[in-house]
Formats: sequence, structure tokens, C-alpha cells
Amino acid sequence: MLNIRYEKNTAPKPIPGPENPLTFGTIFTDHMFLMNYETGKGWHDPRIVPYADISLDPSAMVFHYGQEMFEGLKAYKAEDGRTLLFRPDKNIERANRSNRRLCIPEIPEEDFLQAIKAIVKTDEAWIPTKPGTSLYIRPFVIATDPFLGVRPSDTYLFIIILSPVGAYYPEGLNPVKIWIEDDYVRAVRGGIGEAKTGGNYVASMAAQVKAHEDGYSQVLWLDGVERKYIEEVGAMNIFFKINGTVVTPMLNGSILPGVTRDSVIQLCKHWGIPVEERKVSVDELLAAAKDGSLEEVWGTGTAAVISPVGHLRFENTVIQIKDGGIGELSQKLYDTVTGIQLGKTEDAFGWSVIVE
Ligand code: COI
Repeated sequence: MLNIRYEKNTAPKPIPGPENPLTFGTIFTDHMFLMNYETGKGWHDPRIVPYADISLDPSAMVFHYGQEMFEGLKAYKAEDGRTLLFRPDKNIERANRSNRRLCIPEIPEEDFLQAIKAIVKTDEAWIPTKPGTSLYIRPFVIATDPFLGVRPSDTYLFIIILSPVGAYYPEGLNPVKIWIEDDYVRAVRGGIGEAKTGGNYVASMAAQVKAHEDGYSQVLWLDGVERKYIEEVGAMNIFFKINGTVVTPMLNGSILPGVTRDSVIQLCKHWGIPVEERKVSVDELLAAAKDGSLEEVWGTGTAAVISPVGHLRFENTVIQIKDGGIGELSQKLYDTVTGIQLGKTEDAFGWSVIVE
């Protein structure tokens, strides 16, 4: 159990009201959680302090070799006033899996959850309540040794910041346009693709810039070896409904094991819809689009929630799905996942965790 020190922000900012059209990740609350690590001493000095700049040595290892892990989860305000987290245990488990891959010391699960609950409780008044909004929680760890050699750091900083957010994509729940990338790759098996770390996201940027220039929101990645099998979108995992079956790329070591991905698989199975986690080739997708068996496409992610895809492009072939509209199953998944997150829909799987 952490003994968290608390320093109140004596100059709080105005909390955005319901008239504020919240976008994603631009506004931050009044406090943040910090905890240090040092080899031989372990994690220590947990504290909640006013949100502010942090000071680091320019030689801090995170700046040079990218030794860092991050996570993303959300807090919601239910109609009855409860503050709810969605499956935080899954994010914590994944954070420690990323930590192991990145040679960052693990954070005891119960301390991690206590820290999340404590910072959310502190800035609970910042949880927005308009439909489609939530309080995004961004825990991250950075390597802080002032050193230019390549080895794991001996010191780290664990930080949790909070941001009231709206939809990740400006399109909201309207279907997004996605470019299937066959030049750049995001990750390879044995690499760091399944860890949640900045390196995977910077690897995606050049292709994303190229896709944006052509009017596409995101890039759908193919496997790094054969450039044939579909992997993920980067900000979300991808699902297809083909001939009544829900198909998603299996976790192969280079795909992020998404919490919303797992929730969607469980929900579909619970509803009796066949689900296949397997290799999906771009050729299979093009063939399904051509013969009419590709019924729906959507992405899943904490930030993206359930995000319908209305248009895919691979080389010179354009696939229009549902005439660019929202699929029935995508809509049902969105309603159910957000319903559980907001405490409105029966939480049959026990996914919601109350912040008290
Ligand atoms: C999330 O969905 O929480 C993520 O971390 C994706 C990020 C690109 C916003």
C-alpha cells in the first residue's frame, strides 16, 4: 500500500464546461501523480502534486534511447454519480508486460491501481459528462539516468496525468478512411510492436503524414516480413465482419493486445457471433470486398472506442464499406461498450471498477 503525499494545487484552472467541444488530449487537470525508482531502493516517494512542467537533465536516457512505457485508460461519471474505471487491471497487466520488454522495473499491480484511483479521485470534478466524453488517464514511465551509454537506466519516473477528452477522431462515430500501407512497416515479431511505447508510434508517423496528405485518417499496417497480413491501425486494433463471422488479426507478437479488442471479442462470443482470431491477408480482404461478403469494418481502442471504418484503400483499389455508413454490429458494440463504461448497461463481465 502506497503512502501517497499530497500537495494541493492552490491555483486551480477553470474546468471546461459542457459547452466546451472537447477534442482529444489537449487539456490537462490540476494535479498529477509522480513516483520515483532507483536501483536498490525500488519505487518510492509516491506523491500527488500540482500539474506542472518537470525538470530533467538533457542527458536523461529517455531522450536518447526512448526507454519509456505508456498506457491509456479512461474514467467515466455514471448518472448516479459513481466514478468508474474500465478494466484497469488489463492496462496494469499490459503496462508491466511492456515494462519487462523495455527493461523498466515493474510496478506492483496494487500500487498502480491505488495510484490511478488516487489521482482520479483528486481531480474527479474534471470528468466530463457529455455523451462521447470521458477523463483519459495517461500513466507513463521514463528513464531518467543522466547517461549517454546504451543500457537500461537505474532511475525512472512514473507519472500519471489526466485529460478530459472527446472523440479521438474528428469524425466522431462517423466512419473513418484508412490507408493500407505497403511501403513502411510499424513492427516485426520479436521487436517491440506488442509493447506500448513511444517508439512504435514514431515509427508510424511518416506513413501517417503521407496518408493524411491523401485525405486518410489513419494507416492500416501489414506484417513486416511478407507485407501480406493485416496487423493493426496503430491507434487501434482492427476487426472485419465477413459473411457473419467476426475476424481479427491474431496476437502474433507485433500487434498491441488491446483492452477494447479483448472486450469486443468477449462480447461477440457472448452474443453467439462466431469470432476468429487468425491471420487475415489483404488479398482475403480485397476478395471479400469484391464478392460482397465484407459486411463491416471497425477499429477498437481506448481512445478510439469503437470506430467504424467506411473506406479502405490498398494501392489503387478502394473499398467502400456499408456505403460509408455505420454497421449494425459496430453500432451495437459502441452502445454496449460505452453503456458498460458509463454504468448504464449491465456489466455482465464485471469490467467496471468504482473509484471510492
Ligand atoms: C489509447 O487508445 O489509449 C492509445 O494509447 C492510443 C493513442 C494513439 C492515443
